[in-house]
Amino acid sequence: MADWLAALDRRAELRARAGLTRTLRPRAAGDAVVDLAGNDYLGLATHPEVTAAAARALSGYGLGATGSRLVRGSTDLHHALEDALADWLGTDRALVFSSGYLANLAAVRGLVQPRTLLVSDAHNHASLIDGCRISGAETVVTPHADVDAVAAALAAAPGRPAVVVTESVFSVDGDLAPLAALHAVARRHGALLLVDDAHALGVTGPDGAGGVAAAGLAGEPDVVVTATLSKALGGAGGVVAAPAEYVRHLVETGRTFIFDTALPPAVAAGVLAAVRLARAGDELRAELAERAALAVRRLGAAGLEVSAPDAAVVSVTAPGPEAATAWAADCRDRGVAVGCFRPPSTPDSRSRLRLTISAGVAGQDFERALDVILECAPVSARSEPGLRAPQSRTKEGS
Ligand SMILES: Cc1ncc(COP(=O)(O)O)c(C=O)c1O
Repeated sequence: MADWLAALDRRAELRARAGLTRTLRPRAAGDAVVDLAGNDYLGLATHPEVTAAAARALSGYGLGATGSRLVRGSTDLHHALEDALADWLGTDRALVFSSGYLANLAAVRGLVQPRTLLVSDAHNHASLIDGCRISGAETVVTPHADVDAVAAALAAAPGRPAVVVTESVFSVDGDLAPLAALHAVARRHGALLLVDDAHALGVTGPDGAGGVAAAGLAGEPDVVVTATLSKALGGAGGVVAAPAEYVRHLVETGRTFIFDTALPPAVAAGVLAAVRLARAGDELRAELAERAALAVRRLGAAGLEVSAPDAAVVSVTAPGPEAATAWAADCRDRGVAVGCFRPPSTPDSRSRLRLTISAGVAGQDFERALDVILECAPVSARSEPGLRAPQSRTKEGS
């Protein structure tokens, strides 16, 4: 075998020994698995109004966008979606990208000028971390949700442009960033605040407008919001919502906007329908909150270490990567899909099951899924009954 392939095999072997093998598992349409692993929080991916809107656009516009946004890829659907997102999020303008990952790369990069300091939370998503990296700017990684550390980092760089970079609801443990405090500190130092609202959009805030709106920061001139359209909105794509001047800057200079084929029009149409449903989805959000609380109560009472969720992500600590993999596999064998997070997808050395609660799952299926998770739990995952929030660690995640 060629040397480089043999070297890759050796690395795969090392990952396998550490319990870090990753494999793809295709699913069939409409499979009977109870899904606590996907991010379709409001069950909109299969909502008839969403799929009908996408189907109409599919026959009207064809399969793909046929070009980048600045060439032939901007349809009236993309523009209608951007207007609807700006209106919902309470910002001047919104710009749609073909994924949340690409939106984050552009959003971070676009805020960087010569001498900019980026202050990035230790639990930030890989796309924010990569945005910091490709921007080339000096980046200080601060301990998770530590406002004092952010203030200290900003104070140590007087006179320099700076951006505080954070998620609102963190993707691994589901906790909420102290957004109002971070904004106050950023403003005091003349810095900007960039918030990835991926796991909060549709789930928290007034009319589901997300964590930034919930913190009363919608439309602030020194706040830039990003989100994916693939979670509570059930579709695909990403958005940057910000003052008009910044959106114009991204249209004219954002590499992941300019050099990328636009989101397929059918997806834009489906997401546009999903935005209307999500805005009116207070009942679904109440159901999510009840289910998250029930999961925490039941799993915590059985002695599992469970995060205290601020939205619809619940994290359950596993004894190690192999145990997490086996636990998730046992659940899957019994018809329940749960997320399995191991390093390097965790911001610390702990492996977890991640449950993403969906209002699209039938109530009795959800309760049965909790039974299955408990029955499959390794003995070593249990401690004294009770709820203990996982502790924050300070290493950079990836
Ligand atoms: C917090 C966060 N930001 C960004 C993304 C990337 O979004 P997308 O999947 O649309 O690329 C994800 C995951 O999907 C995420 O969890």
